[in-house]
Amino acid sequence: MKRRLFVTTALPYANGSFHIGHIMEYIQADIWVRFQRMRGHEVHFVCADDAHGAPIMLKAESEGITPDALVGRIAAERPRYLDGFHISFDNWHSTHSAENVELSQDIYRKLKSAGLIAEKTIEQFFDPVKGMFLPDRYIKGECPKCGAKDQYGDSCESCGAVYAPTELRNPYSTLSGATPVLRQSEHFFFRLSDPRCVEFLRQWTQDGKLQPEVANKTREWLEGDQGLGDWDISRDEPYFGIPIPDAPGKYFYVWLDAPVGYLASLKNHFAKGQAAALTTQDFDQFVSDPQVEQYHFIGKDIIYFHTLFWPAMLHFSGRKAPNNVFVHGFITVSGEKMSKSRGTGISPLRYLDIGMNPEWMRYYIAAKLNARVEDVDFNPDDFVARVNSDLVGKYVNIASRSASFLARFFDGELLDVRELPSWREFDEPGHSEEIARCLESREFGRALRMAMEFADRINQHFDAQKPWELAKDPASRARLHEVCSACIAGFHALTVWLKPILPMLAAQAETFLSCTQPLTWDDLGRPPRRIARYEHLMTRVDPKMLDALFEPPAPSAPAAPPAGAGKAGAAKSASNPAQATDTGSEGEGLIQIGDFAKVDLRIAKIVAAEAVEGSDKLLRLTLDCGEPQPRNVFAGIKSAYSPESLVGKSTVMVANLAPRKMKFGVSEGMVLAASFDDPSRGTGIFLLSPDYGAAPGMKVK
Ligand code: 2FM
Ligand code: ZN
Repeated sequence: MKRRLFVTTALPYANGSFHIGHIMEYIQADIWVRFQRMRGHEVHFVCADDAHGAPIMLKAESEGITPDALVGRIAAERPRYLDGFHISFDNWHSTHSAENVELSQDIYRKLKSAGLIAEKTIEQFFDPVKGMFLPDRYIKGECPKCGAKDQYGDSCESCGAVYAPTELRNPYSTLSGATPVLRQSEHFFFRLSDPRCVEFLRQWTQDGKLQPEVANKTREWLEGDQGLGDWDISRDEPYFGIPIPDAPGKYFYVWLDAPVGYLASLKNHFAKGQAAALTTQDFDQFVSDPQVEQYHFIGKDIIYFHTLFWPAMLHFSGRKAPNNVFVHGFITVSGEKMSKSRGTGISPLRYLDIGMNPEWMRYYIAAKLNARVEDVDFNPDDFVARVNSDLVGKYVNIASRSASFLARFFDGELLDVRELPSWREFDEPGHSEEIARCLESREFGRALRMAMEFADRINQHFDAQKPWELAKDPASRARLHEVCSACIAGFHALTVWLKPILPMLAAQAETFLSCTQPLTWDDLGRPPRRIARYEHLMTRVDPKMLDALFEPPAPSAPAAPPAGAGKAGAAKSASNPAQATDTGSEGEGLIQIGDFAKVDLRIAKIVAAEAVEGSDKLLRLTLDCGEPQPRNVFAGIKSAYSPESLVGKSTVMVANLAPRKMKFGVSEGMVLAASFDDPSRGTGIFLLSPDYGAAPGMKVK
């Protein structure tokens, strides 16, 4: 039966570029969606920018632009990534849109009429200089328990204590430095503690559809000692958000209108007439149709919003709750966790820019994914091995090795393999349907293992039959034809199974297989009857590409120094130089003081140093930068310093450089050194050191 599906991925915040975590989620959802389309189902796959909230407002302000302009700039970047990784969204919209205003306000009004909105006066920190209430993340102070300085308003990084921002000692606003004052404000709450909500959510979360670990989490939240608390859904101006009806100066908290953005993007998709190719329903009919299935792909950090707030918002505003949410873990790189905000690890654009094939990444991610909430580790060596062995060595190899015989002796014509006993050996009934079940249930790794086992069997058959020998003997022509036809039929089946994961490669394979239409799942029963000329389908991953992926970009050529002069700069290759290549509008190499101020230079004391095994340039430094945790920094200074000679020295580091995943671990900053590289004198590296009295963490300016 034809299913009708509404599928989304989480809406990314519009104040930053995509990182590899976003791309992983999009790849997972895209594979699932492409599979559904191949099965003949109707799919509407949408996303949008999550545009609202204080961080976006403040970032725009710091750049001297409007939030709208900031959101627009980020939105303009999106296609490069999405097209680059072949993500087939049907629509991309924004939560800062007319549709979202209308839908969010409508949902709110209905919740209010249902008696589920409460007003309460709360006391909150207010920044008297900025003139705004402070979200917790903008308040710091001393930990009420251990006294550690510069701790955030919710928990202490030093002792782990959890507290309210009002408990901090000597609190200050990180926006202005001012001491915040407590002020009262009227807030709106969604009454999740209402027995109707609790009852509905118990049922929605515990009816067996959620992944077991997700169902357990929600049970803890619902049945914990405190039960569900009411949810504060309002924020005071200034705020970049959607105005709350009949409440001047009040806006919806960003997390209220963010998921509504799913509906807004779908509505926009329908309004553009794009959905009409698949359905005759209008938006309202479609979203309220009980037959339509609604699924959200999300990360494990936003389960709470999607399994409690969102279904309740929909249900109690008279709408249909989602059929399910599909939760995935995070992506780690060589076992190390990537931070959502800092986005360490693999840069998706760098991946594309250095010419790596996006389908290698799609394949690798798919091979590692299952239906559980597990982290996915990107391991460079494993990546090279899997792509080269599976895709090139097994799958593509079948086509390339069979094609030449078919072209040479049979003019590209194939036998109908359904009549061949040898084909029946491979064509185990149920194999395709089991792969389909795996794709349906997001067990992509298992689907690929099954596909590759099949590819192994085809390749073994080819090896055992030795077509190169058969070709020598005219009496063996029929056998040769059978063997090669069966192998290409195997390649055809593999192409159907792999197409959701490798859409571009499948398109090339369709040309080779002389398909007159794009392959669908039903084509499994229609083996190919002729092939076109074999064109190279996929190259192997060169391991050097992985080095290039993790290496910092080469520093741009500096203005030519006077002959023999050295240059002060980053100790080579320590991290990703946030390259200060701005040559000023006049192109004279000048920067403004504001540009310089962006670089956070700090005194750092080297508390430990060691050589890095496998590197002839790098030392691993452990730096005390006045923070609760020391930092790990790799510096290319091995030729000039022994590790022992460095311990106890102080130096200057760039403290706000984006952490960079290197082959040997993550580098969390960069130490500064002067250096020269002169053919007549050789090379020299001189670590900068501050004058006596400078302490770890002091700012250098
Ligand atoms: O965590 C995030 O990145 C949010 N921007 C996700 C929002 S998902 C949906 F609710 F919009
Ligand atoms: Zn503490």
